[in-house]
Amino acid sequence: MSSQFSGTPFSGVVALDGPAGTGKSTVARRLASALGVRYLDTGAMYRAATVAVLRDGVDLADPVAITHAVEGAKIEISTDPEQVSITLDGVPADTEIRAPETTAAVSAVSAVPAVRALLVAAQRELIDDGGGIVVEGRDIGSVVWPTARPKVYLTASAAARARRRAGEFGGDVDAVATDIARRDNLDSTRAASPLTQAADATVLDTTDLDIDQVVQRLLELSGG
Ligand code: DC
Repeated sequence: MSSQFSGTPFSGVVALDGPAGTGKSTVARRLASALGVRYLDTGAMYRAATVAVLRDGVDLADPVAITHAVEGAKIEISTDPEQVSITLDGVPADTEIRAPETTAAVSAVSAVPAVRALLVAAQRELIDDGGGIVVEGRDIGSVVWPTARPKVYLTASAAARARRRAGEFGGDVDAVATDIARRDNLDSTRAASPLTQAADATVLDTTDLDIDQVVQRLLELSGG
């Protein structure tokens, strides 16, 4: 892969954090393609871990059993922005990680400190694999890679986020809004690396911006 820019190819780490429905995944992938670098969706890793937990029939109130299930799972994720894919124990899990039951359980699984430790270590290894990368999640700028530049925190109004999610995955806007509020609350109040805006992050409110405008702004922040 090469950058669309004629100057020096981007070789750093871009951190894109923020809650669901801010357009993070779409813009992160587009930004990675435009910069000619890799892309890592850390939410997909927490989702694959959740599929493993559900598959094992583990009690979501039992952090030890959850950790055991995740330790036993082999999660492999592609970092090619043109070919996003994830496997669990060698089997494609791209559809399963987006299933409603996975979404309903992912906050419980990602709140377990030992699960976070396992996945953060795996994420750091992938990031360190060489070359530039755009990493999206909730704790990239604050925990996973604090030296990321640019470090961006995406926000959008609750109404805009619910509208986008409903448009993307279907469902009633009000029901989606309730689910987003529930996950925001769980993700922001958990003890282990909650969703939080790093002190040195650039906040980008996407409420009134379309995808192209957000990508353009991120390209500027990345020096493109
Ligand atoms: O971005 P997403 O909706 O696919 O993320 C799924 C869940 O994973 C989200 O509810 C919070 C959790 N998550 C996390 O705790 N830390 C990350 N770096 C990424 C996602």
